[in-house]
Amino acid sequence: MKQSVRDIEVSGQKVLVRTMLNVPIKNGVVGDKMRLEAAAATLKYLLEQNAALILISHHSHEGQSLAPVAPVLANILGHPVTFVADCLGEAASAAVASLQPGQVVMLENLRFHPEEEANDDAFARTLASYGQVFVQDDFTTCHREHASMVSVPKYLPAVAGFQVQKEVQTITDALENPKRPLIAVAGGAKISTKIPIVSFLLRKVDALFIGGAMANTFLAAQGVPIGKSLVEPDMLEQAKAILADAVTQGKSLLLPLDAIVTTNIEAPADIRTVAISAVGPDDIIADIGPLSVAQLDTILEPEGTVIWNGPVGIAEQTVFASGTAGVAEKIIGSGATSIIGGGDTADYVDNAGLASKFSFVSTGGGASLELMSGHTLPGVEALLDKQN
Ligand code: 3PG
Repeated sequence: MKQSVRDIEVSGQKVLVRTMLNVPIKNGVVGDKMRLEAAAATLKYLLEQNAALILISHHSHEGQSLAPVAPVLANILGHPVTFVADCLGEAASAAVASLQPGQVVMLENLRFHPEEEANDDAFARTLASYGQVFVQDDFTTCHREHASMVSVPKYLPAVAGFQVQKEVQTITDALENPKRPLIAVAGGAKISTKIPIVSFLLRKVDALFIGGAMANTFLAAQGVPIGKSLVEPDMLEQAKAILADAVTQGKSLLLPLDAIVTTNIEAPADIRTVAISAVGPDDIIADIGPLSVAQLDTILEPEGTVIWNGPVGIAEQTVFASGTAGVAEKIIGSGATSIIGGGDTADYVDNAGLASKFSFVSTGGGASLELMSGHTLPGVEALLDKQN
């Protein structure tokens, strides 16, 4: 267990916060604000404690400034945020030096300096010199061994913010101490990226439901014809091994019983719902069908837990989104404790206006995948342990 922002004196201190400002920005306009809203809890708490805040973060898109994020965050916080156009140099040092308790300064995208991703020690020391305390609250990046994740914590007392604490606790509890039955629903396109999570989850869960293009490789491994559907031939042996493991471990592993197929994904044509045994040689599986969705009724229990990672069809195309919508509906309707792994699944439930209907929606894509694969996160490991 790691120390949190509540375990350390922050009142009147200069607090360096690695926060979560990596949000969609198009033509200078911030899109989805879910991450900023999640980041606000720690920042508001620190302001209530009369801390002086120095916010650091990154943006994934090369060259993308964080400047458009500052007014949006200020609006969410109801508090002014001063933006500084570099995280190094005189302007940053001057802004930090004159910062008073109750004030917030936001520094420019850390990745404008290659030292961030190179985990450069001198860069980390400079960042650390800005604060007296370090708060890590960007869960989404905790799987990266970057300077602001793993090296800054070497030079300051470093604790978790509320979002990091909540993410790690919720996902870890669901895996280690779940209300059973524990069900995993795994989707997404590439089995190769999901193998670790599927293998690990299989050991933890009572039942595993696989959909999305990833299911095609499992179907092919069973000798089911899948026409021209996406498949990863290199992964057939791994898929066979997982199917065999499921049998050895006595776990139910459910694959699609039916599919929505087309002969053209880009310009969808000849869309049909067919039994999985009736996928034609020219068909491409684009979604799961209603019988597949209905299988969830046989495994979901109101007193149980479900972890969902990955859409079960090409959910960004409305004609192929009914399987994913059906899965969402079944999970919500089951009354089970529901945890949504980040990335595409979080985007889907958020865009569908369903996020609040799940018990927990992770903000992290890669980071939640890592945790759900049984790995620790370097950005979390770097923080101070809680004393018993
Ligand atoms: C994310 O969006 O998953 C995190 O912010 C990490 O971003 P990255 O993939 O660019 O490291």
